[in-house]
Amino acid sequence: MAYGPAPESAGAANEWLEQHGRRFGLFIGGSWTPGSGDTFETLNPATGKPIARLTQATESDVNSAVGAARDAQPGWWALGGHGRARYLYAIAREVQKHSRHLAVLESLDNGKPIRESRDIDVPLVARHFYHHAGWAQLMEQELPGRVPVGVVGQIIPWNFPLLMLAWKIAPALAMGNTVVLKPAEFTSLTALRFAELCAEIGLPAGVVNIITGDGRTGAALVAHPEVDKIAFTGSTEVGRIIRSATAGSGKKLSLELGGKSPFLVFSDADLDSVVEGVVDAIWFNQGQVCCAGSRILVQEGVSERLVTKLKQRMETLRIGDPLDKAVDMGAIIAPVQLEKIQELVRRGEEEGATLWQPSWSCPQDGWFFPPTLFTEVSPAATIAQVEIFGPVVVLMTFRTPAEAVELANNTRYGLAASVWSESINLALDIAPQLKAGTVWVNCTNVFDAASGFGGYRESGFGREGGREGLREYVAWAGQRGRGEAGKREARASSKVTGQKRRSVKTTRTAGSEDRDLPRFPASPLPPINRTAKLYIGGKQVRPDSGYSMAVVDSSDRLIGEVGQGNRKDIRNAVEAAHKAAGWARTTAHNRAQVLYYLAENLAARAEEFGERLASFSTAAGDAAREVELTIERIYTYAAWADKYDGLVHHTPYRNVTLAMPEPIGVLGIVCPDESPLLGFISSVLPAVAMGNTVVAVPSARAPLAATDLYQVIDTSDVPGGVVNIVTGNSDELARVLAAHDDVDGLWYFGTAEMSAEVERLSTGNMKRMWVDMGQRRDWFDRQHGAGEEFLEQATQVKNIWIPYGE
Ligand code: NAI
Ligand code: MG
Repeated sequence: MAYGPAPESAGAANEWLEQHGRRFGLFIGGSWTPGSGDTFETLNPATGKPIARLTQATESDVNSAVGAARDAQPGWWALGGHGRARYLYAIAREVQKHSRHLAVLESLDNGKPIRESRDIDVPLVARHFYHHAGWAQLMEQELPGRVPVGVVGQIIPWNFPLLMLAWKIAPALAMGNTVVLKPAEFTSLTALRFAELCAEIGLPAGVVNIITGDGRTGAALVAHPEVDKIAFTGSTEVGRIIRSATAGSGKKLSLELGGKSPFLVFSDADLDSVVEGVVDAIWFNQGQVCCAGSRILVQEGVSERLVTKLKQRMETLRIGDPLDKAVDMGAIIAPVQLEKIQELVRRGEEEGATLWQPSWSCPQDGWFFPPTLFTEVSPAATIAQVEIFGPVVVLMTFRTPAEAVELANNTRYGLAASVWSESINLALDIAPQLKAGTVWVNCTNVFDAASGFGGYRESGFGREGGREGLREYVAWAGQRGRGEAGKREARASSKVTGQKRRSVKTTRTAGSEDRDLPRFPASPLPPINRTAKLYIGGKQVRPDSGYSMAVVDSSDRLIGEVGQGNRKDIRNAVEAAHKAAGWARTTAHNRAQVLYYLAENLAARAEEFGERLASFSTAAGDAAREVELTIERIYTYAAWADKYDGLVHHTPYRNVTLAMPEPIGVLGIVCPDESPLLGFISSVLPAVAMGNTVVAVPSARAPLAATDLYQVIDTSDVPGGVVNIVTGNSDELARVLAAHDDVDGLWYFGTAEMSAEVERLSTGNMKRMWVDMGQRRDWFDRQHGAGEEFLEQATQVKNIWIPYGE
């Protein structure tokens, strides 16, 4: 049966374009400015013809936009949660009122089928603003102690232009930030229409600024010193550039990058649903989806049947005019993208995979590519590894669930995965084993504002949506917060900490005379000289270098030696930490028990540790307090081990969406120099409590406080390899950890210069970084030396979507 065309009218969209003379400037500080740069054309991918001329924002335009956002930020925050909620609600209503107009404009500019822009993109945009209006309202009570980050620079791709704008702008505004957003150069029109909607509802000038342009504009925004955070969605390649460019700047960063998401089909799956799932996974938006299910992994027994069914379905897909309501697939964004797809498909054939495409042919105007299936694909083939970002899917087979998991995780990415099986047991056994930020069970490519979305591994970090997504747009009062409000808070609270510090000092002086506290006078006798080895895989080992380093006390007397660890020792420690990954699968109750035992064993040797601390510059009273607080801190994380719960998100489908905090994996932790025992425990224990395994580099100044812990760790049933300790030059070891591709995250508590350097070195595998930028933490303080911030940094949230009912 042939379908007649059922076109949606482009009339209203064209009228709007004509009103603007098909030429657009920049939206800065609430009004349109012509900008100072060149102009460029935006094209209709279905015809290849120009739609309008846009402005390339220059550095000076970026500067004006950031200035406008900066000026607007204190007022926007001061408006309060309810005030901001009113505006976000008004934006949501306005999007709904203009939904058809926005959908048509999106399809014209991007080439996506109107069915998708009308039924998926735009409704989700409205939903995102409604949902975050709620978070604005609730911020004060639900996120106590948090303040806006300040001015946020946001850079988005062309595949979901308005939806990515909503994902970026809604949470930022809800949390009291102001934004400068740069849409992709191929698809800026809906963002410009959105700017008008903001003006129409009377959003205060400067809260939302929209500047157009290509990567040069993006780079200028990233580099601007008055930007407090960058949020980026796009290619992993540009993500890396941005990671390096922001290293050491103190800018908060979230990156949502590419993927090569697996689509796992077990033999008991309902194959008809699976076929529709594949259509949604890889032919939605012509496959130009970061989380596209582009690798079908199917269990051997049903592979042939699935391939037959798929081919039948592919024959019935309709490709053509995006504005035709009966069309399933539209056009590819641009010639450059089409060529990239064609090139990778050629590569696939050259490398021996079998290509299959339906018998019909694509329209000749515009940039189209047919749905494509590759079988006989080797897991190492280019098309099995590289993100194609087009309507091309590869199919591979597996025998056992274990093999399925191995194949699924055989990628540098980790954005999403879907699992198809009628057995809930099997699906929920597989889901936690997949390295991906989202796992869809018997569904795929479903999104909602209430659920976090974002990557593991080289798919980036940070979440968008859900409670977990809000973290990206807040700072802790008094800690970071470079925004005006944040700065104010920081000033206010540094006064508080200043006082606290002073009172700590008073205790210190008082403590040395305090009769109630045990005293550890410096011994008049020469101390016993001990040489500590490294602690790797639960064993004390000699450093590879064969060298040791002297450790001196506060009066410069030699009190011991520690091994001088090097690259090879770090490599061994990382390997040991990977071997101990089973720690993540022990029950949280068991992890808590081990930590309580650790506290108990440390308490038994409290006096000895107090003496050790007193031998460094620490006053006797303080040493006793540090040991006491260290024991308490272990209790804190033993307590948290089984209480840092996930959430069940209310996504508006017949679904439960489980948001599960999972450990990051192997964490490198370069411990602070100050408070050598408390600082070591305070940084290592939250990571361990959450199920990570750790390679720790103790304070270089006072490493014996950590090396003395070897026996305590040994006697506390901490499995070998969970905590590895490598002493030595901590800067040098930090560099090795930062550059190591099998280290999943790095925490660095030290100087600003080294913070910058380790961030720059981290781009190889895009590891999760947490650096202190030389801001010394008061480890004695229960707010700043412990708590939720550490637990958030020790985990990443996986959202598992489980449908129920029909
Ligand atoms: P891209 O990563 O270059 O573009 C994304 C955004 O970043 C655009 O707004 C662009 O103007 C901006 N940008 C480019 N260079 C920049 C820089 N140095 N600093 C700051 N901003 C910069 O992606 P592109 O070139 O459009 O597509 C290339 C490939 O990336 C695609 O073939 C696809 O594989 C992948 N991609 C992945 C996306 C995802 O959502 N994961 C989205 C878009 C593309
Ligand atoms: Mg376009």
